[in-house]
Amino acid sequence: MQPIISVSGLTKTYASGFEALKTINLEIRPGEIFALLGPNGAGKTTLINIICGIVNPSSGVIRADGCDIVKDYRAARAKIGLVPQELSTNAFETVFAAVSFSRGLFGRPANPAYVEKVLRDLSLWDKKDSMIMTLSGGMKRRVMIAKALSHEPKILFLDEPTAGVDVELRRDMWEMVRSLRATGVTIILTTHYIEEAEEMADRIGVINKGEIILVEDKAALMNKLGKKQLILHLLDRLDAIPDELAGYRLELSGNGSELVYTYDAKGEGTGIAPLMRRLSDLKIDFQDLQTSQSSLEEIFVSLVRASP
Ligand SMILES: Nc1ncnc2c1ncn2[C@@H]1O[C@H](COP(=O)(O)OP(=O)(O)OP(=O)(O)O)[C@@H](O)[C@H]1O
Ligand SMILES: [Mg+2]
Repeated sequence: MQPIISVSGLTKTYASGFEALKTINLEIRPGEIFALLGPNGAGKTTLINIICGIVNPSSGVIRADGCDIVKDYRAARAKIGLVPQELSTNAFETVFAAVSFSRGLFGRPANPAYVEKVLRDLSLWDKKDSMIMTLSGGMKRRVMIAKALSHEPKILFLDEPTAGVDVELRRDMWEMVRSLRATGVTIILTTHYIEEAEEMADRIGVINKGEIILVEDKAALMNKLGKKQLILHLLDRLDAIPDELAGYRLELSGNGSELVYTYDAKGEGTGIAPLMRRLSDLKIDFQDLQTSQSSLEEIFVSLVRASP
């Protein structure tokens, strides 16, 4: 399948001499939700701003839906909507005027019905005649999204869309992103809320110090790098793990009241059945058990720590 965005050999050194991106190669699939994760200063905004034509690349070739973002800037830009990390709106305009004007900037003919739909979808319709300066921060962020959607882009970039946003608006945004995807829009988002990526993304890219250190399907990533654990709540505390169980990856926790077995859920055998038999032989009884799987957050933290 032809990627909707392809980035090859991209580097960026800012005028200060700071090397913000070191040879980025990345392909985004049409119709996917791609989450770009990385710590502060990793280069997420730099990468997005380059693809959107706001920052110049130092080298490399980028295509958006087949258009070279440098040579064919206008065509590429028309396919892209961007909700930037920093809020910037014209304070003295009304919501409706700002969104309509933004559409006009891309050379699209006026379409009040479409603008109305966007505003309704973002629960902004009752604010359409309000001056932007009178809106709350979360409302202003919705206006930024409405502006980004004003010209019906095929690709939408959301740079930290839910930073400083309340739980309800965050849920609304997730809903909106999903319904956009259902209409065929490709979505690339950055976020510091890993649970957001876990919930929303089809694929995840991790960037650290200007390098992409991993790109993977979310489900595969969680399967591959996620550890599974079985926790047995013991009837009687143990002081130490009996020698007879030395061959198993076991740990004691909860002051000896819990026996924790770590295993590979994808492996040939999990080893749970023989462990259970062994415990029964040793007369180690338990009253309850639970299993747990590591979260994307744990996977992310260990990836970033391990990268140079
Ligand atoms: N105009 C600039 N001139 C010089 N250095 C810059 C400029 N813009 C960004 N940088 C640097 O480039 C690096 C990457 O910044 P960028 O904004 O892309 O990070 P980010 O991953 O988006 O971080 P955050 O999570 O904080 O938004 C940072 O070290 C930053 O200080
Ligand atoms: Mg950023």
